Amino acid sequence: MQFFIDTADIEEIRDLAATAMVDGVTTNPSLIAKSGADFKTLLAQICEVVSGPVSAEVTALDAETMLAEAAALTPIAANICIKVPLTWEGLKATRALSDKGHMVNVTLCFSANQALLAAKAGARYISPFVGRLDDIGINGMDLIADIRRIYDNYPALTTEILVASVRSPEHIHDAALIGADVATLPPAVLRSLAAHPLTDKGLAAFLSDWQKTGQSIK
Ligand code: G3P
Repeated sequence: MQFFIDTADIEEIRDLAATAMVDGVTTNPSLIAKSGADFKTLLAQICEVVSGPVSAEVTALDAETMLAEAAALTPIAANICIKVPLTWEGLKATRALSDKGHMVNVTLCFSANQALLAAKAGARYISPFVGRLDDIGINGMDLIADIRRIYDNYPALTTEILVASVRSPEHIHDAALIGADVATLPPAVLRSLAAHPLTDKGLAAFLSDWQKTGQSIK
Protein backbone atom coordinates (compact mmCIF):
# COMPACT_ATOMS: atom_id res chain seq x y z
CA MET A 1 0.00 0.00 0.00
CA GLN A 2 1.40 3.42 -0.88
CA PHE A 3 1.24 6.26 1.64
CA PHE A 4 0.72 9.80 0.39
CA ILE A 5 0.81 12.73 2.79
CA ASP A 6 -2.28 14.94 2.78
CA THR A 7 -0.86 18.36 3.56
CA ALA A 8 0.58 21.53 2.04
CA ASP A 9 2.87 22.13 5.03
CA ILE A 10 6.33 21.89 3.47
CA GLU A 11 8.07 21.41 6.84
CA GLU A 12 5.79 18.49 7.70
CA ILE A 13 6.49 17.01 4.27
CA ARG A 14 10.25 17.41 4.73
CA ASP A 15 10.11 15.86 8.19
CA LEU A 16 8.04 12.84 7.16
CA ALA A 17 9.86 12.32 3.86
CA ALA A 18 12.91 11.50 6.00
CA THR A 19 11.07 8.38 7.28
CA ALA A 20 11.10 6.94 3.72
CA MET A 21 7.40 6.21 4.18
CA VAL A 22 6.12 9.01 1.91
CA ASP A 23 5.28 7.83 -1.62
CA GLY A 24 3.50 11.00 -2.71
CA VAL A 25 1.63 14.12 -1.59
CA THR A 26 -1.93 15.32 -2.04
CA THR A 27 -2.99 18.94 -1.74
CA ASN A 28 -6.30 20.68 -2.30
CA PRO A 29 -7.36 24.34 -2.37
CA SER A 30 -8.22 24.32 1.36
CA LEU A 31 -4.81 22.91 2.30
CA ILE A 32 -3.08 25.43 0.03
CA ALA A 33 -5.05 28.29 1.59
CA LYS A 34 -4.11 27.01 5.06
CA SER A 35 -0.42 27.00 4.12
CA GLY A 36 -0.48 30.68 3.15
CA ALA A 37 2.09 29.90 0.46
CA ASP A 38 2.18 30.77 -3.23
CA PHE A 39 0.63 27.74 -4.99
CA LYS A 40 3.15 27.20 -7.78
CA THR A 41 6.17 28.00 -5.61
CA LEU A 42 4.98 25.55 -2.96
CA LEU A 43 4.32 22.83 -5.54
CA ALA A 44 7.87 23.21 -6.86
CA GLN A 45 9.25 22.92 -3.31
CA ILE A 46 7.14 19.81 -2.59
CA CYS A 47 8.22 18.18 -5.86
CA GLU A 48 11.86 18.71 -4.90
CA VAL A 49 11.30 16.88 -1.60
CA VAL A 50 9.02 14.04 -2.78
CA SER A 51 9.69 12.25 -6.07
CA GLY A 52 6.32 10.45 -6.12
CA PRO A 53 3.04 11.91 -7.44
CA VAL A 54 2.15 15.36 -6.06
CA SER A 55 -1.52 16.21 -6.54
CA ALA A 56 -2.27 19.81 -7.54
CA GLU A 57 -5.96 20.63 -7.82
CA VAL A 58 -7.48 22.82 -10.51
CA THR A 59 -10.03 25.43 -9.40
CA ALA A 60 -12.02 25.93 -12.59
CA LEU A 61 -15.46 24.37 -13.07
CA ASP A 62 -15.40 23.93 -16.85
CA ALA A 63 -13.22 21.42 -18.69
CA GLU A 64 -11.61 23.96 -21.02
CA THR A 65 -10.38 26.15 -18.17
CA MET A 66 -9.36 23.07 -16.15
CA LEU A 67 -7.13 22.10 -19.07
CA ALA A 68 -5.68 25.62 -19.20
CA GLU A 69 -4.93 25.48 -15.48
CA ALA A 70 -3.41 22.01 -15.88
CA ALA A 71 -1.18 23.39 -18.65
CA ALA A 72 0.12 25.94 -16.14
CA LEU A 73 0.73 23.29 -13.46
CA THR A 74 2.24 20.29 -15.28
CA PRO A 75 5.45 22.11 -16.32
CA ILE A 76 6.33 22.68 -12.65
CA ALA A 77 7.65 19.11 -12.29
CA ALA A 78 7.35 15.70 -13.92
CA ASN A 79 5.63 14.27 -10.82
CA ILE A 80 2.77 16.77 -10.77
CA CYS A 81 -0.56 14.92 -10.76
CA ILE A 82 -3.53 17.04 -11.77
CA LYS A 83 -6.47 16.82 -9.38
CA VAL A 84 -9.96 17.43 -10.74
CA PRO A 85 -13.40 17.23 -9.09
CA LEU A 86 -15.77 14.39 -9.91
CA THR A 87 -18.09 16.35 -12.17
CA TRP A 88 -18.94 15.86 -15.86
CA GLU A 89 -16.56 18.69 -16.67
CA GLY A 90 -13.90 17.09 -14.49
CA LEU A 91 -14.41 13.77 -16.24
CA LYS A 92 -14.01 15.42 -19.66
CA ALA A 93 -10.80 17.06 -18.46
CA THR A 94 -9.64 13.69 -17.06
CA ARG A 95 -10.05 11.99 -20.41
CA ALA A 96 -8.21 14.80 -22.24
CA LEU A 97 -5.34 14.92 -19.74
CA SER A 98 -5.07 11.12 -19.52
CA ASP A 99 -4.92 10.88 -23.33
CA LYS A 100 -1.96 13.30 -23.21
CA GLY A 101 -0.22 11.03 -20.69
CA HIS A 102 -0.78 13.20 -17.62
CA MET A 103 -1.56 11.68 -14.20
CA VAL A 104 -5.03 12.63 -12.97
CA ASN A 105 -6.41 12.24 -9.46
CA VAL A 106 -10.22 12.53 -9.49
CA THR A 107 -11.31 13.86 -6.12
CA LEU A 108 -14.49 14.38 -4.09
CA CYS A 109 -15.74 10.85 -4.85
CA PHE A 110 -18.64 9.64 -2.69
CA SER A 111 -20.18 6.76 -4.68
CA ALA A 112 -19.08 3.63 -6.53
CA ASN A 113 -20.80 4.86 -9.69
CA GLN A 114 -18.69 8.03 -9.55
CA ALA A 115 -15.57 5.88 -9.18
CA LEU A 116 -16.61 3.80 -12.19
CA LEU A 117 -16.95 6.94 -14.30
CA ALA A 118 -13.50 8.17 -13.19
CA ALA A 119 -11.92 4.86 -14.18
CA LYS A 120 -13.64 4.93 -17.57
CA ALA A 121 -12.25 8.47 -18.03
CA GLY A 122 -8.72 7.13 -17.53
CA ALA A 123 -7.97 8.53 -14.08
CA ARG A 124 -4.68 7.42 -12.51
CA TYR A 125 -6.25 7.75 -9.05
CA ILE A 126 -9.76 7.98 -7.60
CA SER A 127 -10.09 9.70 -4.22
CA PRO A 128 -13.12 8.51 -2.23
CA PHE A 129 -13.55 10.66 0.90
CA VAL A 130 -14.14 8.12 3.68
CA GLY A 131 -14.10 10.53 6.62
CA ARG A 132 -16.75 12.79 5.16
CA LEU A 133 -19.04 9.78 4.58
CA ASP A 134 -18.46 8.68 8.19
CA ASP A 135 -19.40 12.23 9.22
CA ILE A 136 -22.92 11.72 7.81
CA GLY A 137 -23.37 8.22 9.26
CA ILE A 138 -22.39 6.26 6.16
CA ASN A 139 -19.51 3.79 6.54
CA GLY A 140 -16.85 5.22 4.20
CA MET A 141 -14.98 1.92 4.13
CA ASP A 142 -18.00 0.20 2.58
CA LEU A 143 -17.47 2.49 -0.41
CA ILE A 144 -13.81 1.47 -0.64
CA ALA A 145 -14.82 -2.21 -0.58
CA ASP A 146 -17.45 -1.64 -3.30
CA ILE A 147 -14.99 0.22 -5.54
CA ARG A 148 -12.39 -2.51 -5.02
CA ARG A 149 -14.87 -5.21 -6.06
CA ILE A 150 -16.08 -3.26 -9.09
CA TYR A 151 -12.58 -2.39 -10.34
CA ASP A 152 -11.46 -6.00 -9.86
CA ASN A 153 -14.36 -7.17 -12.07
CA TYR A 154 -12.82 -5.25 -14.98
CA PRO A 155 -9.03 -5.77 -15.36
CA ALA A 156 -9.01 -3.14 -18.13
CA LEU A 157 -9.70 -0.50 -15.49
CA THR A 158 -6.29 0.53 -14.14
CA THR A 159 -7.34 3.39 -11.86
CA GLU A 160 -5.84 3.11 -8.37
CA ILE A 161 -7.98 3.57 -5.27
CA LEU A 162 -6.53 6.48 -3.25
CA VAL A 163 -8.33 6.54 0.11
CA ALA A 164 -8.78 10.16 1.16
CA SER A 165 -10.33 12.07 4.05
CA VAL A 166 -8.48 9.65 6.33
CA ARG A 167 -9.03 10.45 9.99
CA SER A 168 -7.58 7.53 11.98
CA PRO A 169 -5.25 4.49 11.99
CA GLU A 170 -8.40 2.37 11.74
CA HIS A 171 -9.05 3.84 8.31
CA ILE A 172 -5.58 2.68 7.22
CA HIS A 173 -6.06 -0.79 8.78
CA ASP A 174 -9.42 -1.27 7.06
CA ALA A 175 -8.26 0.19 3.73
CA ALA A 176 -5.27 -2.19 3.68
CA LEU A 177 -7.50 -5.20 4.47
CA ILE A 178 -9.74 -4.24 1.56
CA GLY A 179 -6.78 -3.79 -0.76
CA ALA A 180 -6.86 -0.08 -1.52
CA ASP A 181 -3.80 0.93 -3.55
CA VAL A 182 -2.99 4.18 -1.78
CA ALA A 183 -4.05 6.13 1.30
CA THR A 184 -3.36 9.82 1.76
CA LEU A 185 -2.79 10.52 5.43
CA PRO A 186 -2.75 13.69 7.48
CA PRO A 187 0.75 13.88 9.07
CA ALA A 188 -0.59 13.13 12.55
CA VAL A 189 -2.25 9.92 11.37
CA LEU A 190 0.95 8.70 9.72
CA ARG A 191 2.91 9.39 12.88
CA SER A 192 0.33 7.52 14.97
CA LEU A 193 0.73 4.30 12.95
CA ALA A 194 4.01 3.36 14.63
CA ALA A 195 2.76 4.01 18.15
CA HIS A 196 1.73 1.24 20.57
CA PRO A 197 1.92 1.35 24.39
CA LEU A 198 3.26 -2.22 24.61
CA THR A 199 6.10 -1.30 22.27
CA ASP A 200 7.06 1.60 24.54
CA LYS A 201 6.71 -0.56 27.66
CA GLY A 202 8.71 -3.43 26.20
CA LEU A 203 11.52 -1.17 24.96
CA ALA A 204 11.82 0.50 28.36
CA ALA A 205 12.07 -2.91 30.03
CA PHE A 206 14.72 -4.11 27.52
CA LEU A 207 16.86 -1.03 28.05
CA SER A 208 16.45 -1.15 31.83
CA ASP A 209 17.62 -4.78 31.91
CA TRP A 210 20.45 -4.01 29.46
CA GLN A 211 21.73 -1.15 31.61
CA LYS A 212 22.06 -3.60 34.52
CA THR A 213 24.62 -5.58 32.51
CA GLY A 214 26.94 -2.57 32.50
CA GLN A 215 27.86 -3.47 28.90
CA SER A 216 28.08 -1.29 25.82
CA ILE A 217 27.77 -2.48 22.23
CA LYS A 218 30.03 0.26 20.80
O1 G3P B 1 -7.60 14.69 0.50
C1 G3P B 1 -8.86 15.14 0.94
C2 G3P B 1 -8.76 15.55 2.37
O2 G3P B 1 -7.86 16.63 2.51
C3 G3P B 1 -10.09 15.92 2.97
O3 G3P B 1 -10.02 15.59 4.29
O4 G3P B 1 -10.71 15.60 6.68
O5 G3P B 1 -11.27 17.57 5.17
O6 G3P B 1 -12.45 15.38 4.87
P1 G3P B 1 -11.16 16.05 5.30
